[in-house]
Amino acid sequence: MLYDDQTIMTGAKVGTMTKRNLARRQFIQFLAASPLFVGLNPHRLLAGTTSDADPGVSTSLADTLQNLVTSPEDALDVFDFQRVAEQVLPPAHYGYLATGTDGDETLHANRAAFEKWYLRALRMVDSASIDTRLELLGQELTSPIVIAPVGSQRAFHPEGELATAQAARSRDHLLILSNVTTTSIEDVIDARGGTVWFQLYPTSNWSVAEKMVKRAEKAGAPVVVLTVDLHSGSNRVTMMRYIRRDGRDCSLCHDQTRDNSWLDRKPMYWDTGATSAGFDTPSMTWDFVGRLKSITNMKVVIKGIVTAQDAESAVQHGADALIVSNHGGRAEASGWATLDSLPEVVRAVNGEIPVMIDSGFRRGTDIFKALALGANAVCIGRAYLWGLAAFGQPGVEKVLDILSAELAMVMSQMGTPTLKDIGPSSIGRH
Ligand SMILES: Cc1cc2nc3c(=O)[nH]c(=O)nc-3n(C[C@H](O)[C@H](O)[C@H](O)COP(=O)(O)O)c2cc1C
Repeated sequence: MLYDDQTIMTGAKVGTMTKRNLARRQFIQFLAASPLFVGLNPHRLLAGTTSDADPGVSTSLADTLQNLVTSPEDALDVFDFQRVAEQVLPPAHYGYLATGTDGDETLHANRAAFEKWYLRALRMVDSASIDTRLELLGQELTSPIVIAPVGSQRAFHPEGELATAQAARSRDHLLILSNVTTTSIEDVIDARGGTVWFQLYPTSNWSVAEKMVKRAEKAGAPVVVLTVDLHSGSNRVTMMRYIRRDGRDCSLCHDQTRDNSWLDRKPMYWDTGATSAGFDTPSMTWDFVGRLKSITNMKVVIKGIVTAQDAESAVQHGADALIVSNHGGRAEASGWATLDSLPEVVRAVNGEIPVMIDSGFRRGTDIFKALALGANAVCIGRAYLWGLAAFGQPGVEKVLDILSAELAMVMSQMGTPTLKDIGPSSIGRH
């Protein structure tokens, strides 16, 4: 048993326990009973020790316990979900979610960049009604907040991509589905109740890529998003540290007796003839984009651009849009934040195609800053994964609600009631 009353008695002084503490205890107990949440360690939580604090986590366990929300409704910002996610996920799975590369320099740079920019408010503008609608690649969207592609979502919650898709449906956000998801595109489109964009890792075997793209197109995806920033692996040190701390027997869920059993849980690879994920594509050049365009009528978006030079090449090779991204700091240790690379990409593109961005977005003001620097839309990754891990679909919904409410508030405060009102004069650099 993961949870015992003796620990409660000694760790948290039952005599002085408040009703709120009791509710939190019951919540932790509930989480501990779930098979997915075997990483939860109530002994550690309740003891409030800090000796095994996780890399990159600044709060002590006592603080963590004090701040752990017990329902999505209690969350004040998206970081409340991070605290729960970290406690409920098995360490190896949380490590996969949290990791950057090397010493997580790019991860930190992404967040630090938001503080280099400040907002410039215009007063006496009628901002009583906030309008976040936009048109993107022929689609009418109600929000510029887009759900980024993330693989293996059942590692975070048993309902995985279906919970995310249902949240996207109930809150009406564009969803980009990874090709390494644990749920097929057909099922996700069904749960979303509408189209999704399909993200493709190039894969070293062209015929595998071709089959996946044709399947996505047949399923109704109007856009394929080609991720170009992960062609030579990445050094995920933080993830490896979490895996080492995970005392569970991974082979109980992951078949380690066969090479590439990973493919068994990735339905988009089924019937493609794939014998490996084929992520390593270091010889890929811009010709790949032309090749992709030749086999599909879907629009092609390039994800992972950070320089003006590549932005120009993408336009020349027929990209329909770009996503400025460093994979949330988990591709390379460049130490260069996407918010800081956004201005040169926007200048290079010169309005010819839409520019989206991701990596590090956690608050409405972060999103506003990117829109002010010329982004058309902003994708979120870890923020919604924290919500998913913590509470499933309602967690993702609340993350979307928080970010949407924060964005609406800052738009009103800045005197920019529509997205078109947000521009270079809305922002300055310290
Ligand atoms: C756990 C995890 C898995 C991811 N899987 C994919 C993927 O399958 N395809 C992809 O293009 N990007 C993937 N990404 C990157 C996201 O699409 C996005 O670029 C990134 O999460 C944005 O940064 P943020 O997490 O700081 O918001 C993944 C990110 C995370 C955190």
